[in-house]
Amino acid sequence: MVYLIGFMGVGKTTIAKLLANKLKLFFFDTDQIIEQQEKRSIAEIFKKKGELYFRLLETGLLKQYNSKGIMACGGGLAIHNNNMELINSKGISIYLKASSNHLYNQLKDDKQDRPLIANITNEELELYIGKELKNRSPFYELSQHTILVDGKNKAEILREVNALIFSL
Ligand code: S3P
Repeated sequence: MVYLIGFMGVGKTTIAKLLANKLKLFFFDTDQIIEQQEKRSIAEIFKKKGELYFRLLETGLLKQYNSKGIMACGGGLAIHNNNMELINSKGISIYLKASSNHLYNQLKDDKQDRPLIANITNEELELYIGKELKNRSPFYELSQHTILVDGKNKAEILREVNALIFSL
């Protein structure tokens, strides 16, 4: 399995889908799988069951899925329950790395489905990204490979991830 790691809004789902399609592999998205399993949106799971419950589902899912494919990992998955150790023992991890400025531009008009940022103003979002990226980076950096995404379009990122996988 190839795991795409990184902050909300960096494009993990889009790139994973395109890559899986290109390589004729299965596409997995941890958020989508959890929503299907629980028959609720991520926002509802956070509201009704709490974040801790959601984090346990993420780790359970990582343990359960062993197919050959591309998995887009939710932005907080890398941070909890030693998940990076588990990921690195199971497959290839690629960190899609973006600056806080890039993430802010991606997220400012796309907050509503993400419970951690759904109810904050754009000023608060800017502060949240700055702080959280700092907290999370050491975990993201445990990935085996990194691809910088600032200033690149989807096709360029896809090409780079693809080239990386073929170089291994
Ligand atoms: C989260 C990121 C989301 C989703 C949940 C929590 C996070 O995934 O798992 O809202 O803690 O950063 P995306 O990175 O796909 O938005």
